[in-house]
Amino acid sequence: LRVVVLISGGGSNLRALLEAAQDAEFPARVVAVGADRQADGLAHAELFGIPSFVVPYSSFASREAWGEELLNRLREWQPDLVILSGLMKLLPHQVVAEYSPRIINTHPAYLPEFPGAHGVRDALAAGAEQTGASIIVVDDGVDEGPILAQRRVPIEPGDTETSLHERIKPVERELLIQTVLDIANQTIHLEEYR
Ligand code: GRF
Repeated sequence: LRVVVLISGGGSNLRALLEAAQDAEFPARVVAVGADRQADGLAHAELFGIPSFVVPYSSFASREAWGEELLNRLREWQPDLVILSGLMKLLPHQVVAEYSPRIINTHPAYLPEFPGAHGVRDALAAGAEQTGASIIVVDDGVDEGPILAQRRVPIEPGDTETSLHERIKPVERELLIQTVLDIANQTIHLEEYR
């Protein structure tokens, strides 16, 4: 399974995927890593010798123009699956249209609870006793696609956004790797979500 991962940040989820793919038995290969900025997480791609590309959002006159270039770059790698992992941009429609339902996203909340760019902060602010991590199929909406996997994560008294996010991320990584395995092994049939 040819996978392209798109990031904006530190890429801890990407790193976990790269480590899992080191195992020759793992049925997925990260063939390239893309970013919308000079993301720190690109260093993981470098370390594992995986090609990477940057399509700087700030260099384009519009989200559509950015999306066109992103689509061109994705096409070069012929991905069977596109993984958004910490991409802090909404995918332009033309990218969703071309690759959906073979695009999945990791989200640090128990969707449909707390969608959007601040899911961790929102769960804390809501005084929730638990939140979670979710893997969904990406559609044109914001974190509202079909849920492929999710698990609850407790919120502890005194949690900060950082401490809570650090508790969520390992769960996210486990769910992501299991979901990629399930997709590669046809346990999950993404075409059902077309
Ligand atoms: C992850 O929690 C992801 O779900 C969210 O942003 C975080 C990115 O973390 N969208 P990293 O860049 O993978 O470390």
